[in-house]
Amino acid sequence: TTRVFSAFQATGRLTLGNYLGAILPAVRLQDEAACVYAVADLHALTVRHDPAVLRARTREVAALLLACGLDRSVLYLQSRVPAHTELSYLLESTAYEGEMRRMIQFREKSAAQEEVRLSLLTYPALMAADILLHRADLVPVGEDQRQHMELTRDLALRFNRRYGETFVVPEAVYPRVAARVMDLAVPTAKMSKSSASEAGTVYLLDPPADIRRKIMRAVTDSGNEVRYDPAGKPGVSNLLALLAACSGRPVESPVHSSYGALKKDTAEAVIEALAPVRERFAVLSADPAELDRILAAAAARVTEETSGLLAAARLAIGLA
Ligand code: TYM
Repeated sequence: TTRVFSAFQATGRLTLGNYLGAILPAVRLQDEAACVYAVADLHALTVRHDPAVLRARTREVAALLLACGLDRSVLYLQSRVPAHTELSYLLESTAYEGEMRRMIQFREKSAAQEEVRLSLLTYPALMAADILLHRADLVPVGEDQRQHMELTRDLALRFNRRYGETFVVPEAVYPRVAARVMDLAVPTAKMSKSSASEAGTVYLLDPPADIRRKIMRAVTDSGNEVRYDPAGKPGVSNLLALLAACSGRPVESPVHSSYGALKKDTAEAVIEALAPVRERFAVLSADPAELDRILAAAAARVTEETSGLLAAARLAIGLA
């Protein structure tokens, strides 16, 4: 059977970008493959954080992923399986400093901070460890993870070449539409949990009125032609992509006479797509003990199922 793995950082509230770029594809893969998903709480330590907030966010992200429909997978917290950090060290010893420094996300994030944590630089080694630990064939991710995915493949190939066949070389899968959801207020920038623009970011738990307001105020352009052209018309194209992804129709199919009509349709489609997520989240939040039970059972299972791979990697690299 095909094996699938992906993870979601616990840095902030999950966004519509996370949902369409990775969560929905991850939900769909459950029908055809053995899926394991994680909340990447260790990755949240790579930038300034507040311990109490991180703890709350981690639980929220886990409950939200279940609410989105990842309830037929193994879902656990990355930090509860020490094999991730152990394998990460072996991969840090496979990777080169130069290739880590070349990562676009590192360059962008480090430029925006005065104190750059060392773990921000080594971040892709931990991400590679996440994936390789599970011998994943497929990794559903958004477009912004492309460079990290290529590095993961490079590290797997290098390790295998040097120390013998140990890792499965994974393939990334990107969604056909909405692989890069843009900020509604700044449509040339990616919609992100940590972005400055609250007005341009739809969070999965936003009430319908907020979603409608954010989409109705989305920045478009001074023209009036509704056409899919991401380079020339980023705002309009972003709305068309959101509408297509949320309604399941092709991106070119809807015909709109005006930007206003397009916004209205898009807002309703997004609200409709997220309504069941909000409902299920409310149910799950009412029973925190059940969430703990699910996460603990999954971590135990992952620890057991990955011990063989970790042992093989340790042996291959020369640890006695
Ligand atoms: P993260 O937590 O930033 O985002 C989670 C997933 O959502 C996707 N995504 C988007 N897709 C489309 N449009 C957007 N605007 C958008 N914003 C985010 C991301 O591509 C990602 O798939 N390093 C990862 C977390 C991670 C991981 C892993 C992923 C840790 N270990 C192992 C895959 C496999 C990250 O920061 O994603």
